[in-house]
Amino acid sequence: YADPSFSDDVVNWQKVHGRHSLPWQQSREAYRVWLSEIMLQQTQVTAVIPYYQKFLSSFPTVFDLAKASSEQVMSHWSGLGYYTRARNLHACAKRVVAEYNGVFPHQPELLADLPGIGRSTAAAIAAFSYGARAAILDGNVKRVFTRVFGIDGLPSTRVVEEDLWQRAEALMPDARETEKIQAYTQGLMDLGATLCTRTKPLCLVCPLQKRCVALATNRVAELPTKKAK
Ligand code: ADE
Ligand code: SF4
Repeated sequence: YADPSFSDDVVNWQKVHGRHSLPWQQSREAYRVWLSEIMLQQTQVTAVIPYYQKFLSSFPTVFDLAKASSEQVMSHWSGLGYYTRARNLHACAKRVVAEYNGVFPHQPELLADLPGIGRSTAAAIAAFSYGARAAILDGNVKRVFTRVFGIDGLPSTRVVEEDLWQRAEALMPDARETEKIQAYTQGLMDLGATLCTRTKPLCLVCPLQKRCVALATNRVAELPTKKAK
């Protein structure tokens, strides 16, 4: 799968057209990156911003969050939805304090063992905070990959998901340059959120249009494969 210029296309696009001024992009501190990634799992950027800011002003460090009461944490989450995230967030903060002296581990495997952190979120935290070469694969990235590579089948099935993870790993920039990994990771997220959207993707301005199988075969609207109704 390795294609040396896929990641360059994403990185170069991100530098010019990607998002650079989101509140959580202003710091690489793992606590802040983690908090933003959990909030962004199931909630849109615009809805997350005020919650993220209020949360940080009330709980500026993982120690403050760990020692807060459940009621305080839940009331700060109130309105964001998917409340399991808030319970896991609190449990995660307590474990990071108890097991890691308040320092989020660097290895994606250790991050993914913490409550509320799946494989893709672990990779995003490791990449953004520590510059780790770790592959993300969230819903937006699955959509980009199924289209670019013309992958049929439900992305949630084991076989398709395994294929997508293998590609995600292979497509990362190979250099261990922190900035490149970060621009690439953010670029994939931004592409999926702003260009390769579920409906009406902006293929004409997409940096991946030359290599996009779905565009070449007129199957953009069909991919990713949807559940039969
Ligand atoms: N969605 C998930 N992570 C994100 C991030 N770091 N920036 C913007 N949207 C995101
Ligand atoms: Fe998505 Fe269109 Fe870009 Fe293909 S060309 S990756 S379908 S935006």
